[in-house]
Amino acid sequence: MGLILLLIVQLTLLSTPSTTTAKPTNGFSVDIFHRDSPVSPFYNPSMNRTEAIIWAAKRSISRSNMLLNLDSAEAPILPCEANYLMRIWLGTPPLEQFVTVDSGSAETWVQCEPCDNCYRQATPIFDLIKSSTYNRLTYGTFSRGGLGTDVLRFGDPNSSNMVSFNNLVFGCGFNNSWKPYEPIQNVTGILGLGNSPLSFVAQLSSQLGQIFSYCLTSYYSPSSGTFRFGNESTQSGNSISTTPMVQKPGNALYYVTLNGISVDEDRVDAKQPSEGNMFVDSGSSVTMLESSLYYAVQNLLLDNIESDPLDQPNPPFRVCYESLENVDVPTLTFHFAGDDLIMMESNFFHFFKSGIACLALEPRDGTSILGSVSQVDYKVEYDLGRKTVSFAPADCTRD
Ligand SMILES: *[C@@H]1O[C@H](CO)[C@@H](O)[C@H](O)[C@H]1NC(C)=O
Ligand SMILES: *[C@@H]1O[C@H](CO)[C@@H](O)[C@H](O)[C@H]1NC(C)=O
Ligand SMILES: *[C@@H]1O[C@H](CO)[C@@H](O)[C@H](O)[C@H]1NC(C)=O
Ligand SMILES: *[C@@H]1O[C@H](CO)[C@@H](O)[C@H](O)[C@H]1NC(C)=O
Ligand SMILES: *[C@@H]1O[C@H](CO)[C@@H](O)[C@H](O)[C@H]1NC(C)=O
Repeated sequence: MGLILLLIVQLTLLSTPSTTTAKPTNGFSVDIFHRDSPVSPFYNPSMNRTEAIIWAAKRSISRSNMLLNLDSAEAPILPCEANYLMRIWLGTPPLEQFVTVDSGSAETWVQCEPCDNCYRQATPIFDLIKSSTYNRLTYGTFSRGGLGTDVLRFGDPNSSNMVSFNNLVFGCGFNNSWKPYEPIQNVTGILGLGNSPLSFVAQLSSQLGQIFSYCLTSYYSPSSGTFRFGNESTQSGNSISTTPMVQKPGNALYYVTLNGISVDEDRVDAKQPSEGNMFVDSGSSVTMLESSLYYAVQNLLLDNIESDPLDQPNPPFRVCYESLENVDVPTLTFHFAGDDLIMMESNFFHFFKSGIACLALEPRDGTSILGSVSQVDYKVEYDLGRKTVSFAPADCTRD
């Protein structure tokens, strides 16, 4: 099931993008929002929030199973699985697109007409024939898509803070398998931020510097968060946790090293060898820990929280409490190589309207994943020049 797009990286096709109207010298910023939040154009006030969180957790798990195969560099990534969206405009005249902001995806792509097999999309599909600035780079060398270049704009095309880039390389999906019974999708593609030569960051690096950051607001926040491209994103201030990025050849994921986790003062060490044993993923919702680490942390939390967990938590959640109000929740500290990161309660528990709180961590075989729930209200910066990932606590509704 799902959409499969095979894009082969073709280095030789990389063209240097150039800015047109606006000339960001040091970077620029764009709003990003959770698809289900009140600021999202796709906000559905009658949506059952509990079910939405459960659904997002299930999506994370199916996504992680797919990312397991990422080493093959041909991993299919579904845009409809990710949570945080950005609005961009593609082509001439500019056509609005809602793309997922995905640090776990190497390529940027949207659905394109003429389409053999596209999923149903709420807004018009980008038609490459109608865009006067589209240039096809490849056709037919891909089983289900092609590469091309076009103008890409951030910010309303008619506003003064619009930023545009010519000749951005992106993929066109026009043979995406999809089941007819699946609902009409609002998400039109993926903004790939992975560590690959064709990623956005790589394409813009000569102009903006090899750096980007995001500050995510929670699921139901009435405010957007911010995405910063380029040198403008540079972290400053105290209490920044910085850890080395671990690069694995042919792999676009942002790996870091998690040496262990402490629940209050009790520390559990990660299994050896541990270099690059976790990756930071804006596209997953829950955080997934290698199984032995997960169960050790889960048991310490159960021991340290003076309240009885529910007998039958809502799957996929494993540990839920009727309420954690007036209950001391232990401090969870992630010991990354080089620095510790202290999590806030809301970075490892989902709090439902009913008062129920469920642990937003899941076990997984193999590499751990730092999901978006654990990144909310941190400014998370990826510095590809210094090869570091850093986290600075922030109120992302104001940042
Ligand atoms: C698309 O957005 C509408 C609101 O504009 C919402 O009701 C609907 O549930 C969304 N569809 C999906 C698949 O998320
Ligand atoms: C929301 O969904 C949950 C889980 O399916 C259910 O228990 C609850 O009653 C629902 N709430 C509302 C207000 O429909
Ligand atoms: C920009 O302005 C033009 C002319 O008023 C209008 O036709 C177009 O729809 C606007 N574009 C957007 C994206 O709002
Ligand atoms: C689209 O994908 C299907 C399934 O992989 C394949 O059989 C078909 O030939 C493709 N169509 C085109 C036009 O490439
Ligand atoms: C970004 O900042 C770094 C470090 O200050 C500097 O070396 C680099 O030239 C800057 N890049 C751009 C494009 O401004």
